[in-house]
Amino acid sequence: MQDFHVDRARKLLQNAEEIFDAAEVQQAVVGVADKLNARFDKPGDESFPLVLGVMGGAVVFVGQLLPQLRFPLEFDYIHVSRYGDDDQGGRVVWKVIPRPNVAGRTIIVLDDILDEGETLAHVKQRLLDMGAAEVIIAVFADKALKQSKPVKADIVGLTIPNKFVVGFGMDVYGYWRNLPGLWAIRQEDLKQK
Ligand code: IMP
Ligand code: MG
Repeated sequence: MQDFHVDRARKLLQNAEEIFDAAEVQQAVVGVADKLNARFDKPGDESFPLVLGVMGGAVVFVGQLLPQLRFPLEFDYIHVSRYGDDDQGGRVVWKVIPRPNVAGRTIIVLDDILDEGETLAHVKQRLLDMGAAEVIIAVFADKALKQSKPVKADIVGLTIPNKFVVGFGMDVYGYWRNLPGLWAIRQEDLKQK
């Protein structure tokens, strides 16, 4: 039997609350693009950064951000996740590691969300260990937490409340990466699969 439940997916969304609509999400992407363009879209800038999208959550962010960047860049992806598609953070698992071409480069890491920061701290350290010259982290969303995080994002699209969110690439149990806005899932709906 296949392990997906369309009814469950719809119910999760029925109970959810839209915290940023599609227009606000688009505006946040423009904000990230502006900041990157301000740094790299300058005559004489020879950075030619390598942009790395963190699959799978960054896929929508990456797809909408890249066409707004006005400087020469290279794109590649890495795939790392915490705890598969569960809603609780866990061990960081690499599925596609960075290629050796990161050495000596300015790297822009694009990810969907900075939560506890374990994932991006791990990614940044690995890139630096592989000889990256500089690692700039740009996230679509930064979750406001009370505790400090092991890594900071250099560029943030939206600061969001400490809730589990879906949409714009982010999923709950594999569902709803396709939503154009950001929705907070009700806490009670996260307790059981
Ligand atoms: P961190 O290591 O706690 O920062 O977790 C970051 C990763 O967990 C993100 O790249 C997401 O894949 C996932 N994640 C964290 N919070 C959420 C959320 O609210 N919704 C969906 N995915 C999340
Ligand atoms: Mg992720």
